[in-house]
Formats: sequence, C-alpha cells, structure tokens
Amino acid sequence: GTGKFFVGGNWKCNGTKESVDKLVSELNSAHLESDVDVVVAPPYLYIDKVKNTLSARVEISSQNSWVGKGGAFTGEISVEQLKDIGCKWVILGHSERRHVIGEDDEFIGKKAAYALSENLKVIACIGEKLEEREAGKTTDVCFRQMKAFADSVPSWDDVVVAYEPVWAIGTGKVATPEQAQEVHAALRDWLKNNVSAEVASKTRIIYGGSVNGSNCSELAKQEDIDGFLVGGASLKGPEFAIIVNSVT
Ligand code: G3H
Repeated sequence: GTGKFFVGGNWKCNGTKESVDKLVSELNSAHLESDVDVVVAPPYLYIDKVKNTLSARVEISSQNSWVGKGGAFTGEISVEQLKDIGCKWVILGHSERRHVIGEDDEFIGKKAAYALSENLKVIACIGEKLEEREAGKTTDVCFRQMKAFADSVPSWDDVVVAYEPVWAIGTGKVATPEQAQEVHAALRDWLKNNVSAEVASKTRIIYGGSVNGSNCSELAKQEDIDGFLVGGASLKGPEFAIIVNSVT
C-alpha cells in the first residue's frame, strides 16, 4: 500500500438521533489501530452531534458540499459551514450523487476545486456501472472521471481516491481482491502518466462496495488498496472497527 491506511464510513441517508448516539458510543469504545486514518461521514443533520460526542481520534467528513461560496442556494450546505462545524473532509462524486441525483464530471470537479481551495480534504469517488464493465469500458470510465478531478484540482496532497464499482455498492457483490487490485493498479498508472510519479506513489486509492468484516482482510492485502470507503457495514461500530483494523 501507499501512505497511511485510510478507512471512511459513509453513513449515507441513515439514522436517527438514537441510532447515531449508539453508533458513536460503539466507536468510542472500539479499539482502532493507531496507524490508520479513520473518518466518518454522518448525514448533515447529525454532524454537530457526532462532532461533539465522538472521540477526536476519528475525523468527520460530509457527504457532499455546495460548489462555491454559500449564499442564495436553497437547501444547500456550504464548505464554509462544514468547516465551521468541524468537518475536515468531504465525499465528492459518490455514485449515488452521480447516478441518482445527476451530478456530472464537470460539476463534481468544480466542487472538488472549491473544497480544496477552502482547505477541506476530498474523498474523490469514481467507478463504473455494471453495463460499462460488461462492455469492457471499466478503465475508460474510471480514467474519464479521474481526468475530471485532475483537470480541476490544483494539488493531490489532500485528495484520497475512492474506487467504487457501482455494481458492488450496497449489493453484497464485493469486487474480488483481483478485480479491485487490477483497477487500483490501472488508476495508479494513470496518475503516473497524467499527473506525476510522485502523486501516483503518494495518493491513497481506497476501495468501496460491499466491504464488510469478513472480506476486508483479503482486499487489504492487495498492493494498491490503501483503505476502504464503507457504507452499510459502517453503521455497526464493532464491524467498522474490524475493517479499520484490517490494515496490513
Ligand atoms: O460510500 C460507500 C459505498 O457506496 C459503499 O457502500 O458498503 O454499502 O456497499 P456499501
């Protein structure tokens, strides 16, 4: 792997005040290996609560951010507000925002550039759909999505790339360690050829899509898998801790 192992928990649009309290207390009592960056992304409404109750060992991410400075944008949350409330990270380009909400490469790239300009770190998500994989277009799609980030961001220092094949998200159909490693290696090669050898060797590329406590250790052994972005299994504190501790 490259750099420090990174495990993010994306809680998506799940939870209640009660379940969030329970999850926070499970995380506070879990053992988390010290050589892992651990980040959780609660729904916006609960970020403040989580920030005030969760151990500072775990950093907070938002699941999205507005594309520019705040103002007359009904229903949006600005980068400035996220920083004000204690967020260090933002997840951008998640497949649900691309394919359910309709965000495109250009809009996502602008969001990444704006977040970085305000010193919010970015978890930059990419990944192909099933029909794209079956048509042999996996790397075409992933490289196109990478290029949109590369064209927008001034530096990769505060970017973690999350490869999340859409067909593996929330389906229980995890990519095999070989399938994931193949794409991660291709992405690192893309960074080398299109950005720099230094960025390729320093940028963490994490895997997401049906990661759980049973499949994480085989994935974590792969050379180019530098951590995970976890959805469903991050809603259970003890299981999330197992995934954090799968660092090899
Ligand atoms: O951001 C997380 C991914 O979408 C993975 O979700 O672990 O529920 O498949 P999942």
